[in-house]
Amino acid sequence: MKTLVVYFSYEGNCSFIAEQLKGALNADILQLHLVDDKKRTGLAKYVWGGRQVMIKETPALKPYTVAMEQYDLIILGTPVWAGSPTPAMHAFLEHTKATLRGKKIALFCCHAGGKGKVFDKLAASLGENTLVGTIDFINPTKQDKQAVIEKLNGWVKQIQGCHEHVPLL
Ligand SMILES: Cc1cc2nc3c(=O)[nH]c(=O)nc-3n(C[C@H](O)[C@H](O)[C@H](O)COP(=O)(O)O)c2cc1C
Repeated sequence: MKTLVVYFSYEGNCSFIAEQLKGALNADILQLHLVDDKKRTGLAKYVWGGRQVMIKETPALKPYTVAMEQYDLIILGTPVWAGSPTPAMHAFLEHTKATLRGKKIALFCCHAGGKGKVFDKLAASLGENTLVGTIDFINPTKQDKQAVIEKLNGWVKQIQGCHEHVPLL
């Protein structure tokens, strides 16, 4: 099953998960980058990111190329911002929704303890897809790496064998 992991990461947590998935599934990965790549910290980071979510901004992404037709499974990964997927992931889905039609999709997110309705919101942005799994991690770069990898590997086995729509968790 040829797999692509598409993800955004502002502070490295989703990058860590995406790299593990790349190894576990022999997957290709596509990291989304904002054109505005200024690094905000502290309160400014939350105000900037939270505002983007609130006004439903779809920020400009750095150019990427992806031949979606060659993949059977697409895994989408995003940090949770204000209980939502990141605007960067929304921008990606807006650009590529048509090419994702009919694909198997799995979702992961990283958060700080409050994932909100992030998977429902992501699923609502998709079209006709078979959702084969969802998984979330609490700031994995700050957790015991081995435990994170074990959790991830269990999920990988689950999504590899899954051909049916799963309920959102
Ligand atoms: C603008 C902004 C909003 C956030 N909102 C939430 C939130 O609603 N719930 C939560 O649990 N964590 C929230 N976080 C924390 C991140 O989701 C969390 O640290 C995540 O692991 C970061 O992933 P990354 O390192 O790949 O960027 C927020 C972080 C930022 C920058």
